[in-house]
Amino acid sequence: MFRPRRLRKNEMIRAMVRENHLSVNDFIYPLFVEEGENVKKEIATMPGVFRYSLDQLDAELKEIVELGIPSIMLFGIPKHKDEIGSESWNDEGVVQTAIRYIKLNYPQLYVIADVCFCEYTSHGHCGVLVPAVGAKDGMDVDNDKTLINLEKQSISMANAGADLLAPSGMMDGMISTMRDALDLNEFSDIPIMSYAVKYASAFYGPFRDAADSTPSLGDRKTYQMDPANRIEALKEAALDVEEGADILMVKPALSYLDIIRDLKDTHDLPLAAYNVSGEYAMVKAAAQNGWIDGEKVMMEKLVSMKRAGADIILTYHAKEAARLL
Ligand code: PBG
Repeated sequence: MFRPRRLRKNEMIRAMVRENHLSVNDFIYPLFVEEGENVKKEIATMPGVFRYSLDQLDAELKEIVELGIPSIMLFGIPKHKDEIGSESWNDEGVVQTAIRYIKLNYPQLYVIADVCFCEYTSHGHCGVLVPAVGAKDGMDVDNDKTLINLEKQSISMANAGADLLAPSGMMDGMISTMRDALDLNEFSDIPIMSYAVKYASAFYGPFRDAADSTPSLGDRKTYQMDPANRIEALKEAALDVEEGADILMVKPALSYLDIIRDLKDTHDLPLAAYNVSGEYAMVKAAAQNGWIDGEKVMMEKLVSMKRAGADIILTYHAKEAARLL
C-alpha cells in the first residue's frame, strides 16, 4: 500500500518535504500617506492599518525595517482633488514628498509608487472622465488622455526617487507609454510592475474607504476585468510583457489563484499577487468574532498564494506575518 502518511508523521519530516515556503522577502507592505500633519487614523474597515501624515510615519517605518520587510508601496491621499487628478504629478505632492523622505532616511527600504489617478480625481475614477454615449451615467474614462497624464505622474514619481513604479489603472498601452517616458528621461533602470490582470472586484471596498477613492458615479467595469474571464487574463498579461513590463501582478489574489497559476505557467516574469483590502478585512472580522483563528487563516492564505505561483505578495498582513516567520 502507498502510505503518504509516513511523510506527515511529525513536524520534522513535514518540514523536510514542504514544497512552498513564505519568507519576509516575499512581502510588499502597502502604506497610506495623507497630506497634512498629525494624522494617524486607523481605517475602520481595516483594523491594524492606518493612514499617516508624513510627520507621523517614522514609528511605522522603523517597525517595517526592524521586521525585515524589504519593500513598501505608497498610496497618497492628497488634500486637493480635481477632474483630472493633476495633484498626482505635483513634484511636491504627498507621495513624492514621502518618497524623498523615506529614501533619505530609510535607504534600506525599496520604495514602490502606485501610479494611478483614483486617489487624486474628484470623481474617483482612474483617469480622465469624458462624456460617452451608452456608458453608465453617460461618462467613461478616456484611455489616451489618461496615458498622457500617466507619463507626467510616472516621471514625477521617478524624479522623487521611487525604486519601482506600479501602474494600477488598467489603461490600454499604459506599460509601453510609461516605458518610453522613463527611458527618454534617463530612468531606463526603473522597473515597472504592471497590475496586468486587475479585476473589477468588490474586494476593493475597504481600500476605497482608506484612500477616499470610491467612484462618485458609474463603476470601473470599462477598464478593470470581468471576474468571469480567464482567457482574457492571458491576453492582458501577454500584452504587458510585449510592452516591457518587468513584473506581472494579479489582483485580487484569493479568488484568483487559478489566474496566478495560469500566468506562472505561461510567462517567465516574476509574478506578484495583491492580497487586497477586502480579503484582509474578512479575516480580521471573522477573527474578531472568534469565528476563525485569524493568524492561522492568514498564514494559510498567504502560503496558498505562493503555492499558486506568486513570487511576491502585496499584503496588509505583512507585519503580522513577518512576526510569525
Ligand atoms: C487603484 C487601486 C485600488 C487598489 C489598489 N490600487 C482600488 C481600485 O481599483 O478601486 C485596491 C487595493 C485593495 O483593495 O487593497 N489605484
